[in-house]
Formats: sequence, C-alpha cells, structure tokens
Amino acid sequence: MTSAPHQSRRTFAIISHPDAGKTTLTEKLLLQGGAIHLAGQVKARGQARRARSDWMKIEQQRGISVTSSVMTFERDGITFNLLDTPGHEDFSEDTYRTLTAVDSAIMVIDAAKGIEPQTRKLFEVCRLRSVPIITFVNKVDREGRACFDLLDEVADMLALDVCPMSWPVGMGGQFEGILDIATGRISRPEGPSKEYLGKVDEGAALPEAVAEELELAQAGYPEFDVDAYRGGDLTPVYFGSALKNFGVTELIDAIERFAPPPRPQPSEQGTIEPDNKEVTGFIFKVQANMDPMHRDRIAFMRLVSGTFKRGMKLTPSGLGKPIAVHSPILFFAQDREIADNAEPGDIIGIPNHGTLRVGDTLSERNDVRFTGLPNFAPEILRRVQLKDPTKTKQLRKALDDLSEEGVIQVFYPEIGSQWIVGVVGQLQLDVLISRLEAEYKVEAVLEGSPFDTARWLKGDDKALRDFAEFNKMNLARDRDGDPVFMARSAWDVNYQQERNPELTFSATKER
Ligand code: G4P
Repeated sequence: MTSAPHQSRRTFAIISHPDAGKTTLTEKLLLQGGAIHLAGQVKARGQARRARSDWMKIEQQRGISVTSSVMTFERDGITFNLLDTPGHEDFSEDTYRTLTAVDSAIMVIDAAKGIEPQTRKLFEVCRLRSVPIITFVNKVDREGRACFDLLDEVADMLALDVCPMSWPVGMGGQFEGILDIATGRISRPEGPSKEYLGKVDEGAALPEAVAEELELAQAGYPEFDVDAYRGGDLTPVYFGSALKNFGVTELIDAIERFAPPPRPQPSEQGTIEPDNKEVTGFIFKVQANMDPMHRDRIAFMRLVSGTFKRGMKLTPSGLGKPIAVHSPILFFAQDREIADNAEPGDIIGIPNHGTLRVGDTLSERNDVRFTGLPNFAPEILRRVQLKDPTKTKQLRKALDDLSEEGVIQVFYPEIGSQWIVGVVGQLQLDVLISRLEAEYKVEAVLEGSPFDTARWLKGDDKALRDFAEFNKMNLARDRDGDPVFMARSAWDVNYQQERNPELTFSATKER
C-alpha cells in the first residue's frame, strides 16, 4: 500500500535573528534541493539589503515576488515547502502568522552570539503551537562561543532538552570539519575557500580535545528521541556553516527523516486530520499584489485536508458563499510534473479582491472553522491624525482594510475620536503611511499615544461591565468589536490583572 501523498510533505520555516545567516542557509538548502533557479531570487544579502531605503523595502514587501514567499523543492520523493518568514528588523505579525502554517522550524543561531532577542520571540510563537525545532548553530568557520556554552544557553533560555547531532572539529582558524556523531564521519573543508565540497573522512581520529568534548557531550545530554522532538520538548542541534556549505545536507536529511508530515489542525468542530477527504485550509497571509490600482491580493492558504483541484469551489468562513478557485497559484518543485492538484501541507495562492482575510477558513462544505491563528499584542502604539479632517470615512475604511490584511491592528477608543494603530515592528508604520497615501489618498501622520501596550479582555458580561465603569478611558474595541484594555505600561497591566482576577488580560487573541 502506498502512503497518502501528504505523508511526503515537509512544510517548514527558518527562524533567526537578523544576520545569523537565514538567507545564506535558505539559498544553500534550495541549491541542494535542486531549486537552483530560485536561489537567485532569495532576498539580497547583507550590505545590499541594508543599503536599500525604507521605501524600497516597502516596495519589496508589497511587490515581493510571490515565489520567494513559498519555496518548494523535492528530494528522495519528499516535497519540501519552505515558507519565508519575512522580516529581519522589520518583522511583523506576518512573520508570526506564517509560523501558524508550518509543521516544523529550523532555528538558526550565530555561533558567536547564541540566542538573540528575535530568535527568542519567534521561538515563543513556535512554542505556542508546539512546533518542533531543529537548531542550526551557524558560522562555525569563524571563532564562536564554546559548544557547551551554546547548548546550555538553548536549554536554559528556551527550556528545551538539547541533543547535539554533530560536533565541530575546531572553530574559526582551527576549523577542521564537522563530525557526524551517529556515524563518526567527518566532513572536511577543501580548497582555498575551505568549503565543504564533498570530502568525507570515515573513522578518522579526532584531536584529543575534541574527543574529550564529545565524550562529555554524550554523557551530558539526552539521546535523540524523535517523539520528544516532535512534541516540541527536545531540539536536535547541528553545527555548521551555511556560507561554507557545512551541515546543510544534514539539515535536509533531518527535516526529511524527523520533521513531522502535515499535522492535524484544531478547529471549532474538533481536530481535522490531513487524510480527511473534504478540502479545507486556512489563510495565513495576504499580500497586496503588484498593481496598486486594482487592490488585487494574493491570499496564501495552507491546505489542511483533502486534495485540492484547480477550479474547485471553496467557501471562505468570512464570506459564507462559495468562490471558485480558478486561477490558484500552485507552488511546484522544479522537476515535478505540472499538476493541478495540491495536497495537505502545500500552499496555494488565491488571487482575490480583498474578500479573503488572514485567519479565514476555506472549506468545501463550509462546516469547519480553524482556530489558533492569533493576533499579537502590539508593541508600538500610535495615534492617527488626519491632515484633512473631511477624510474620516476613507481613513476608517483604510484602517479596517489594512488591519484585515494584518498590516496593522486598529483600536477604536470608547471615549474620544482618536484612533490608535498598533504594530509589532516599526516598518509596519512606514508601510501604513505610504499605503494610506497611495491606495486610499489619505494623508495622515502618526503621533505618540498615551498607551504603551494593549491586552484583549475576556470575562463574563458583569465583570466586563464593572471593569468598564472604572476604566472607560482605557477601553477600546478592535476591528471585530472585541474589548481591549489600553495600558500605559506593563506595570499597569499587572496591576489591573491583580485587581481583576475574574478577567483575563491576553497578549494574543485567537480568531
Ligand atoms: P540573515 O538572512 O539571517 O540576515 O543573514 P544572511 O544570510 O544575510 O547572513 C548575514 C551575514 O553573515 C552575511 O555577511 C553572510 O555572508 C554571513 N554568513 C552567513 N552564514 C555564514 C557562515 O556560515 N559563516 C560566515 N563566516 N559568515 C556567514 P555580510 O557580510 O553581512 O553579507 P555579504 O555581503 O557577505 O553577503
């Protein structure tokens, strides 16, 4: 019996702090996976990227080629769907939401720096959904921190068991290769650039210091356990150098062998298994298309169950009536025959005019609602001030639209007329202003807000009413009309939480 097609899917993302080497690693994975033509399309690196003006970045974010949002390659009969998590310093909710559409992630850390703030934030999102993580300690061709130091940091800061799968034979100037712990093989650097070009030593003796380290490591860390990894409790750790091609094949192997195939997804109707016959999926990202005049959008749907066929009719939960998906964008591995089908784990791009929202479920029978696509508490809040006060209506429409798209969050205070927008990254504010002007002909400026953060409120009606009586100045509604506590500080949140134990103050909101 052949296994279901979705068993051969691996849908994953790479998370990292800026400059840890995500772009370089992505390129190398794609090269090894045979998707060479895509490698050139991966974002510009380093200087080139940083030299770009913010405007260019915005253009790039809006007009970015759809292909680099989803990169698909095939090896050994396995289809790898690598979803780009946008954002370096400019990360946004988009990044977080993309993580709701993957079954596993690779966490890249810089051997000299260890866990950095962004890695940690993204890791927390993975943890929310128990997304299993493979760790890649990058740049061992340069001087880095001691391996034990790095392993213990991952274990302590992320509260994960760590299991080293490979070990660097020296680092920096002393770098002599990477040992695969299970097989004892060492991949060696070659040529003037000291890259890995395929030279492998079987059973070579290790330098004494390295042999000692290895012995300690094997005694000190748990053995690899695929169930603990898939449960999100243990991370296998690979050392390598994306730049010099060390550890890349091992990573693909690990994704192929250990990473879970498409997982069941929670819904209001219970768990939906991938081999459920009905086609279902959810929108995790909406991207404005190249042509701003037409407000065309591509909604990215992660298929959860069933076999999708071109032209199929699906009903979006937000709309209630079916739409025919005639011209979906299907992402294919380079050498796969062009087919019109997609399987669970695959991503489909659906062109639309703004009808599809992030968080929407699509299904054949309109009988499923997926849960667990969170909104995140914004970290930057700004008041929106119109330059031309007669444009209030246009502004409201624009803010509603853009919050649907996940570009910003919007809060309408109970008292006063000053609308507040919230974002998790500064770049989103620049995107907001430029899109207000370009697409809605609304000129606005952003001003400081008296509030520092926001929390979604939950509780019974009476508790909410009582709270509202004393805190009207701090209450707002989000775009769905749900109550939000606007706080002046984290202290404020804690204080109110202690005083109002019957209410929950949530930093995320599930749609
Ligand atoms: P990012 O997407 O996570 O931001 O990182 P990116 O791949 O752009 O890499 C950041 C910098 O680190 C780049 O250098 C890249 O060449 C370098 N790098 C990535 N992997 C390795 C590695 O394994 N070893 C070493 N030594 N360096 C690595 P840059 O100078 O900023 O950019 P570039 O001009 O060299 O492209």
